[in-house]
Amino acid sequence: MDRFDQFSPEHVPFLDGRLKRMLIGGQWVEAASGKTFESRNPATGQLLATVAEGDSVDVDRAVTAARRAFNGPWSKFKPYERQQILLKLADLVERHFDELSLLDTLDMGAPISRTRANKRRALGMLRYYAGMATALHGETIENSLPGEIFSYTLKEPVGVVGAIIPWNGPLGASIWKIGPALATGCTVILKPAEEAPLTPLRLGELALEAGVPEGVINIVPGFGDTAGAALAAHPDVDKVAFTGSHITGQKIIQASAGNLKRVSLELGGKSPDIVFSDADLETAVPGAGMAVFANSGQICSAGTRLFVERRVYDEFVGQVAEFGRGLRVGNGLDPDTQIGPLISEQQLDRVTSYLSIGKQEGARALSGGSRITDGPLASGYFVPPTVFANVRDDMRIAQEEIFGPVISAIPFEDIDEVIQRANATTFGLGSGVWTKDVSKAHRLAKGIRAGSVWVNCYQAMDPAVPFGGYKMSGYGRESGLQQMEEYLNVKAVWIKTA
Ligand code: NAI
Ligand code: MG
Repeated sequence: MDRFDQFSPEHVPFLDGRLKRMLIGGQWVEAASGKTFESRNPATGQLLATVAEGDSVDVDRAVTAARRAFNGPWSKFKPYERQQILLKLADLVERHFDELSLLDTLDMGAPISRTRANKRRALGMLRYYAGMATALHGETIENSLPGEIFSYTLKEPVGVVGAIIPWNGPLGASIWKIGPALATGCTVILKPAEEAPLTPLRLGELALEAGVPEGVINIVPGFGDTAGAALAAHPDVDKVAFTGSHITGQKIIQASAGNLKRVSLELGGKSPDIVFSDADLETAVPGAGMAVFANSGQICSAGTRLFVERRVYDEFVGQVAEFGRGLRVGNGLDPDTQIGPLISEQQLDRVTSYLSIGKQEGARALSGGSRITDGPLASGYFVPPTVFANVRDDMRIAQEEIFGPVISAIPFEDIDEVIQRANATTFGLGSGVWTKDVSKAHRLAKGIRAGSVWVNCYQAMDPAVPFGGYKMSGYGRESGLQQMEEYLNVKAVWIKTA
């Protein structure tokens, strides 16, 4: 560990040993219950901070603060003024990016090379939302009623937003919810994941520094079935923006029924990644590998069902396994680490149980296949990049989201068959196609039922391009104009002029 001294927690002022409190109405406060929970580094088990544990009472306080801000001073802010705040926040995030990326690495384990590389995306998002703040508008609409009656629409902020995020990219996920709320004039209660609450709390400090008025952003860390459930059910919350598992997504919909709040859901996947024999296989090997191994497979749109055309299957899948074996697994603080630990013991159990299931089902692990149990990594939650061959469509490892660095490689014969098999899943989030044949690429882009299709690349993301799911991967879109609509109501206004 000595090599990583420069990154040790003592060098992060935020990790000063004091209780990390929640943000309600512009104040940093303890939980009403006085309860706290611990946040630990999944690579080492090291305690990083003790955090105030919010529950329904705190959620209620936060919703009251958010409602007061929404009805009060925040509603007087002009788009330009909201834009200035977003730009200021972007500048602060830029200035403190080393600290924020380090916090992400410490709290959820992702390699520092990865969390640092997210800089352009994080800043790009904040500045995109800043641009959007002054670009939103209603329309005048020509109607056909007799007489003189004029109609137009107003776009209005939906109101108080409950944002519930997972742990697999705390900084990015927080910006993805806070940004559109600020751009549209909503107020927000952010509920970070219990596994990784620290970066969102630090972002809250920067938001206050950027001039976000009290009550506009509230941050209530806590657990899902207490704080999260209270937010999803709260009668004075107008919308819930959720990212996480489809099972929790279903609970959110049920909880939202009480006041019929609007819901947007970005859920999991079992995304197909399809490799044709005519592809540039040299790029496709690392492409298909990192489509799953990045972030230790803890990415909702990971391309976990790797369909490979039969005549190159053995060779290609062998090369992906070799690529996986060559990746450096380790503590995220090591600048050379490419694959960090899984987030928690629970996630480790989940992933290793799928490794056993795969073997029982008759799949063969060409690389990885079990947890790392010796050397310095034995005390963390480390699973090496795993490639399963001999996988059939009906195996559980080909149907269920594992959320670990596990590829299920499946052979196919032709294009119509692979489209049909790619779609034979309850999910529909991401998908990949590797081919040099432009007509194949277009046919797959049209044929695949998923929110994103990546051709000869994987996981490209941009603040201006919508991202989201078909089927059980959820509904609603994040990024792009479509995300703005999720945070806006449309009002029709009729004016009789004669
Ligand atoms: P989860 O969906 O239970 O948790 C995500 C967020 O929802 C957390 O903030 C959690 O506190 C909150 N939550 C949990 N139960 C809730 C409830 N009843 N009401 C309101 N909020 C609630 O996911 P978890 O337990 O972290 O991971 C389980 C599996 O879910 C993973 O193995 C993976 O397959 C999938 N997942 C998918 C993610 C994605 O990006 N789509 C992210 C995280 C997990
Ligand atoms: Mg959970």
